[in-house]
Amino acid sequence: LDNGLARTPQMGWNDWNTFFCNVNESLIRQTADIMVSSGMAAAGYTYVNIDDCWSTKSRNAAGDLVADPQKFPSGMKALADYVHSKGLKLGIYSSAGTTTCAGYPASLGYERRDAALWASWGIDYLKYDNCGDHQGKSGQQRYTAMRDALAATGRPILFSLCNWGQESVWTWGMPVGNSWRTTGDIAANWNSIMGILDQQVGLEAYSGPGGWNDPDMLEVGVGSLTATEGRAHFSLWSLLNAPLIAGNDIRSMSAETRTILTNTEVIAVNQDWGGRQGHKISDNGNLEVWRKPMSNGSVAVVLLNRGTSTSTISTTAAALGLGSVASYTVRDLWAHTTSTSTGTISASVPGHGAAMFLVTGGGITPTPTGTIKGAGSGRC
Ligand code: GLA
Repeated sequence: LDNGLARTPQMGWNDWNTFFCNVNESLIRQTADIMVSSGMAAAGYTYVNIDDCWSTKSRNAAGDLVADPQKFPSGMKALADYVHSKGLKLGIYSSAGTTTCAGYPASLGYERRDAALWASWGIDYLKYDNCGDHQGKSGQQRYTAMRDALAATGRPILFSLCNWGQESVWTWGMPVGNSWRTTGDIAANWNSIMGILDQQVGLEAYSGPGGWNDPDMLEVGVGSLTATEGRAHFSLWSLLNAPLIAGNDIRSMSAETRTILTNTEVIAVNQDWGGRQGHKISDNGNLEVWRKPMSNGSVAVVLLNRGTSTSTISTTAAALGLGSVASYTVRDLWAHTTSTSTGTISASVPGHGAAMFLVTGGGITPTPTGTIKGAGSGRC
């Protein structure tokens, strides 16, 4: 969507993956505090996003949504002011149907009213779900109505579509939203993450600056996901140009989780200004190679081991699309070390793990992924 936002994938935090309906004002304030003090804000995380269950069970007499006074006693305007005072931005949630997924009132038919209310509070981001009755309207109609309502407020509000990949949203998402969910909900386990990864193959042709494929929020540091799994998840989501929305309780995260989420070398791959999404170039049983062409002529590569035991995974500069030179520079984005190679890029990768490198030398051979499909009129 050409609204000036999300020219690189948005970064932030959302309460849902850890807290589900248990959202409240102190959680949001404390999270904003920690976002700054933990170094996450400095690493690029900006949006603090409230998910489902923030409102009362019905609209007020005027027809407006109302923040639950038990959960948000100071009100949303004061909360937005607080988040803004930290240099951060505040997100909210609704659905393109008659109710949200948890059964709260939602915005179909109330787009202008709700968008104006959020703008008056100082909201900066809308996650717009797909639950409730659709009143016979297509996703494209329902999401376009909210796009227009947000634009009419005059306030820059990032528009995150959450219709779970339905109606092949990537084919019409670019002129409508800043990102679009491509699948159902993620869960904090390896099989869920790998299942979502498999559904991203081929979608790289549809994303670019202003509009991103969204394989759902991060589960790094959530539940029983291990640090090794977390590093693989974060490597892959970064390479896919996914919105990087942390889903853990950052107030109590371990040093290891914080180190993963604030790895600025991996984040730099996600935030590359050229906005070309990475894609899979080979798989061999459980061993996969993914690449992303970078704007400066380097190639980012993820070597992924989906199996349970340590394996050596290899690729070549030629397979990554790099031209032929005598020596390549290989930066390990997790070990933070630099080496040289005559053309083979190889690593011993633990089960449920990944290695990630930036390979430089020889320049990039043009590939068909350079053209963005489905761009429509919303793209500049
Ligand atoms: C859907 C969305 C989730 C979350 C919940 C809230 O399942 O896909 O990300 O927002 O609704 O109820």
